[in-house]
Amino acid sequence: MKLSSRTKHRLLNTYGPWSLITGASSGIGEALAKKVAEAGLNVVLSGRNEEALQALSNHLENDFRIITEVVVADISTTTGIYKLIEELEDLPIGLFIASAGFGTSGVFIRSNLEAEIQMLQVNSLALMMLTHYFGRKFAQQKRGGIILMSSIVGFQGVPNAANYSATKAYVQSLGEALYHELKPYNVDVLAAAPGPVNSGFATIANMHMGSALKPEEIAVPILKALGKKSTIFPGALTKILILGLRTVPRWGKIKIMEMVMGNMTKHQKVKS
Ligand SMILES: NC(=O)c1ccc[n+]([C@@H]2O[C@H](COP(=O)([O-])OP(=O)(O)OC[C@H]3O[C@@H](n4cnc5c(N)ncnc54)[C@H](OP(=O)(O)O)[C@@H]3O)[C@@H](O)[C@H]2O)c1
Repeated sequence: MKLSSRTKHRLLNTYGPWSLITGASSGIGEALAKKVAEAGLNVVLSGRNEEALQALSNHLENDFRIITEVVVADISTTTGIYKLIEELEDLPIGLFIASAGFGTSGVFIRSNLEAEIQMLQVNSLALMMLTHYFGRKFAQQKRGGIILMSSIVGFQGVPNAANYSATKAYVQSLGEALYHELKPYNVDVLAAAPGPVNSGFATIANMHMGSALKPEEIAVPILKALGKKSTIFPGALTKILILGLRTVPRWGKIKIMEMVMGNMTKHQKVKS
């Protein structure tokens, strides 16, 4: 899927010259980084996997004649979050994309508490702290764009992914509210809520996905939606899932999600 010249122009003029993408080493973040670079913005690529980030950096600089910076940071700790912020302080960043995140699955009380805390820190705490930093910076400069990776699981409780869906409910709610709070400052905020996407996510979350979107299929609609709405459900599959659930009451959605997630996690061995 291609970005139109109009969207490329708009992205560069409204949010350029620099962007930051967390979670750029894989999946959705990587696909967004490629499209942002195609629009002509310089990109800071962040994550923990230095090799993957460096390979992407070389590819983007060769293909799009932009400048990239790689910042290796583990944002599951506040030290890692402040390290990332410090390394970026002098760059004129106008677009922040929070794609770093991961999921866990299975019965909550049988899960590893450390992993659940880490997920909450990456998906919600780090995202909030970075959004606070860039929200203030962008408001002062009276321009900027923020994209927060939410999910369709953030719209109701999801048994078998209870904490993950709760982290995404946080992201969705924060994004919707900030869309309105930051509008008077000429800062655009977008919550991007895809359905299943084929990336590194399923393996880490110990899930089996059936049909899933490709990261490239959702990157373009997400970037197109920034500045136009507060939430995007990117990709045909996401839209079908959301439309199918539209008239179902919240308790019914929870039951459906329980079945869906039950199927996605049924291979898991029962732990005691
Ligand atoms: N895939 C889906 O079905 C789906 C659906 C809806 C929403 N989402 C959301 O979309 C976002 C991107 O997920 P994805 O599908 O692209 O998964 P992915 O391919 O596994 O990518 C996740 C990214 O997050 C980074 N990350 C994870 N832990 C980190 C940490 N402690 N510090 C810094 N970076 C960290 C990873 O980088 P390193 O490994 O290099 O650290 C990686 O670049 C997530 O927020 C996810 O919740 C995914």
